[in-house]
Amino acid sequence: MTDPPLILAIETSCDETAAAIVRGRAVLASVVASQAELHTPYGGVVPEVAARHHLGTVNAVVDEALARAGFTLGDIELVAVTQRPGLIGALLIGVATAKALAYAMGVPLVMVDHLHGHICAAWLAPLALDPPFVSLVASGGHTRLDLVRDYASPRLLGQTRDDAAGEAIDKGARLLGLGYPGGPALERLAARGNPEAYRFPVGLGGDAERDFSFAGVKTALLYAVRELGEGLDGVRADVAASYQDAVMRPLASRLVAAALEHDVPAVAIGGGVAANGRLREMVTHMAAPHGLTVAFPDRALCTDNAAMIGAAAQFTAPVPWPRFLSLDAVATAPPGGIAA
Ligand code: KG4
Ligand code: ZN
Repeated sequence: MTDPPLILAIETSCDETAAAIVRGRAVLASVVASQAELHTPYGGVVPEVAARHHLGTVNAVVDEALARAGFTLGDIELVAVTQRPGLIGALLIGVATAKALAYAMGVPLVMVDHLHGHICAAWLAPLALDPPFVSLVASGGHTRLDLVRDYASPRLLGQTRDDAAGEAIDKGARLLGLGYPGGPALERLAARGNPEAYRFPVGLGGDAERDFSFAGVKTALLYAVRELGEGLDGVRADVAASYQDAVMRPLASRLVAAALEHDVPAVAIGGGVAANGRLREMVTHMAAPHGLTVAFPDRALCTDNAAMIGAAAQFTAPVPWPRFLSLDAVATAPPGGIAA
């Protein structure tokens, strides 16, 4: 059997400039340059700032990934890049870089869907999860459940009808006076609080429901914060813990319910929100009585990275040299949710 190709993968869909060297399930190097600090003063990602920063950083990040893995560009057999969905200016930098490198080296290019990448993070070593399983991807822009019988073609089971889970977390963090990005800060604050202190609504009741809604819980937090006024200071950690639980609970319970409904032996999580310790605790706790295997990729493979793009590339048809020159970045997700 021949070795799988040595892949250079690039990810620039939002505010992380990332490159990785991947062969099969092995991540030989994964470099992530976060721009989060640049966007902090604005309370969110500014697309034009993101694109300019990717442009200034991407070559150095690619060089660093190659150096850490002990290879040079000439060794690369396939280039993979995030094509969609994301900020168009940010995506363009990655796609243009990947096209130029693949063209110069005379190798094929694989255009990867970012969400397919988040799902395929569970395929990478050392987790190396084999289908069938149900996947939850919860990130800043997306929240979805997929039935994965084959990594090449995940089947959408449900998704958010309004805000993404990460968006609800980031907006909640802002209401509580925490900076951007809100997820890790909210988690730290919530760790000191009582999650039973406040009751926030959990959107779209009932676990037979596969879709999610986070607009209601976000509005409830807004009202609670207004009502508390100056009193918030004394109970901030309790409010954070209760809010975090209200966002995480439907994610965990619907993931487990979907696995039982489809009679699969495992569940996996991905996306930035999957880095959250409370979510991991809830999934573990809810899955245990049913004997489900719980697959949690390393936190660094949950938040945006290029190793997951290198993984998904191995389940996506490569476009031969030089035909890929006509391909482009796309801001939106396709109708089925994933271009796999
Ligand atoms: O997947 P990701 O890195 O980027 C997108 O594709 O959007 O996800 C970013 C989201 C943000 O909303 C961020 O606040 C959230 O993931 N996040 C977390 C944690 N770390 C990142 N949410 C909760 N707890 C965390 N520890
Ligand atoms: Zn992401």
